[in-house]
Amino acid sequence: MTKSTSKQAAKKARKVSPKNSATIIEELGVKLMTAKHPEIKRLKKQYPTSIHGDKFWSSSYLLMDYLNDNPPKKKTKILEIGCGWGLTAIYCTKKFGCKVTGVDADPDVFPYLQAHAELNDVKIKQLVKKFEKLDVKTLSKYDMIIGGDICFWDELNDTLFDLFKRAKKAGVKKAVIADPQRQPFIDLCARLDDHFTHEVWDWELPEPTPADGDILVVNFKKS
Ligand SMILES: C[S@@+](CC[C@H](N)C(=O)[O-])C[C@H]1O[C@@H](n2cnc3c(N)ncnc32)[C@H](O)[C@@H]1O
Repeated sequence: MTKSTSKQAAKKARKVSPKNSATIIEELGVKLMTAKHPEIKRLKKQYPTSIHGDKFWSSSYLLMDYLNDNPPKKKTKILEIGCGWGLTAIYCTKKFGCKVTGVDADPDVFPYLQAHAELNDVKIKQLVKKFEKLDVKTLSKYDMIIGGDICFWDELNDTLFDLFKRAKKAGVKKAVIADPQRQPFIDLCARLDDHFTHEVWDWELPEPTPADGDILVVNFKKS
């Protein structure tokens, strides 16, 4: 074996090292690093997240499944609010060719999001902002809002209700939010009746990662 081919062989062997490949899984076409992956272990030490953005939450799988059945058009400008590690943002970019920005109040979620974007060979823009600070001007840049498991505290009910009002004013067409039926989310859905055209779907995904909950679809254009 010549020097250069033995070098290539060594490089190849490192790339498919069973230690690393076993910690990368693929779900609904998106590659994910598991908690055992060395990069996730390194990020966890360096970037401890502070508002529950510490993993992929199962509502993201529900959201992906709903969007698979109701796909957004290519190049749709999407804002994923409370994106965490950005699973759905990556899915929409990879599968539908959408332009997605992930927004989160916690800056420490973005190294995880970008590591996964790189793994999946997609580009996701990031924005560090609280829901409360997403003004009409910012929201007017997007066609659609998506979010998974973002209504988990009572005060987030008011926060998201007000965000929907600004989104309507901004000309956003729709919002699709998945939730594991937490009480603040149920209360939010109940108060939308007099203000927005919306639907709530009971959604279940048996595999690959089992998940169930609700999908809230708010159609701002029809309100
Ligand atoms: C339960 S995690 C869900 C993360 C991701 N959507 C998923 O399904 O994996 C909630 C996310 O919302 C973010 N978050 C919570 N309150 C927020 C707020 N007021 N403004 C912006 N982001 C917020 C957290 O930092 C966290 O990443």
